[in-house]
Amino acid sequence: MAPRTILYTGKGGVGKTSVAAATARRCAAAGLRTIVMSTDPAHSLSDSLETELGSSPTPCGDLLWGQEVQAQEELERHWDAVAGWLGEMLTERGVDPISAQELTVPPGLDELFSLLQIKAHHDSGDYDAIIVDCAPTGETLRLLSFPDVANWWLEKIFPWNRQLLAAARPFSGLIDIPMPSEAVFDDIGRLVENLIDMNAILRDRSATSIRLVMNPDKMVIKEAMRTFTYLNLYGYLTDAVVVNRVFPEEVEGGYFAGWRATQAEHMELVRSAFAPVPILTAPYFDREVIGAEMLDRLGAEVFSDCDAAAVLHADLTQELVTENGSAVLRLPIPFAEKADIDLKKIGLELVVRVGTQKRTIILPAAMAAYRPRAAKFEEGALQVVFDRDDDGPKRADEPQD
Ligand SMILES: Nc1ncnc2c1ncn2[C@@H]1O[C@H](COP(=O)(O)OP(=O)(O)O)[C@@H](O)[C@H]1O
Ligand SMILES: [Mg+2]
Repeated sequence: MAPRTILYTGKGGVGKTSVAAATARRCAAAGLRTIVMSTDPAHSLSDSLETELGSSPTPCGDLLWGQEVQAQEELERHWDAVAGWLGEMLTERGVDPISAQELTVPPGLDELFSLLQIKAHHDSGDYDAIIVDCAPTGETLRLLSFPDVANWWLEKIFPWNRQLLAAARPFSGLIDIPMPSEAVFDDIGRLVENLIDMNAILRDRSATSIRLVMNPDKMVIKEAMRTFTYLNLYGYLTDAVVVNRVFPEEVEGGYFAGWRATQAEHMELVRSAFAPVPILTAPYFDREVIGAEMLDRLGAEVFSDCDAAAVLHADLTQELVTENGSAVLRLPIPFAEKADIDLKKIGLELVVRVGTQKRTIILPAAMAAYRPRAAKFEEGALQVVFDRDDDGPKRADEPQD
């Protein structure tokens, strides 16, 4: 059986590392051979677990291993030959060697290589659960669109095929770029294969899911909503969201009363943005979450009603298809009766009201020029039809309802 793979992402500082470590400890306590690995270059897993972790799996408890993946090592492993060739090509064209070195590593590639460790752990058969503490959302997301990226690399950076090059090599003196060696091709070939395999792992919704960590702060929630939209769009399963650092009931009066009211309001936004995905919460503790005891306290709060290792929600929550200039957004809204449907689009934000239910969705940037035309219920889901608005370009911040 494929190991259970859970990726945690969210804005910096919201509690990704803490929640990932807490999840891993719970999985291990439940008898799963568990590895928790961090691919965020700002590693803090060692501090969180109070165990010095290396770049390869390091034991840090019963059935528990931790790993802080070193992007540079992964880069050297996967990319050395290619970087050498690209560097040579650039320096021959007059780029100074330092800049050439920078240019041979496209942004994001190092984190992508770090994520390839997921595939290595799948292949090894050593683990039942793989918990990943990812980099903040922006970077991670771009990487997840990589089936296209892999193809792009093949087509754009590598416009020639091996045979053609083999034929051209004797004449390479006549062409003004150095010919890539077999080692370069081997690197690229292996990389693309690995990426394709990893993509299959990440899209396997029976075993892999992503969990969004956030705080009850407006900006943080909005960013998580954007991420959620893109995850759905790319077909990656979000099986839970974790709202961390909620002021507990005991926090009364004075100074914090206002905060509690604001947080309660923001929890409403969370519900309207992520339902029906389960919303897990953890309180703002009276101290930092560091070490086994605090991690287990956090784990007990987050997973008070559910199994940390389970796939907590099985379906994608938004589906967007475009055809012939119109786009259809499909939102499963449970128990929706034939109530009045109210749609409002402001910039990229779409607010849907059906009876007493409300959904708030941040649309992908490409939808800026679309305007909602109709909404209907079909097969237990609300379908919103959008048309391209061709009355001239609209600014994204202009009200469009
Ligand atoms: N629920 C909580 N209550 C109190 N402190 C927390 C809580 N969750 C996380 N922390 C603390 O907040 C800081 C940031 O958490 P961390 O998990 O490192 O966030 P991220 O990985 O998203 O940057 C850490 O010092 C951590 O101990
Ligand atoms: Mg972190």
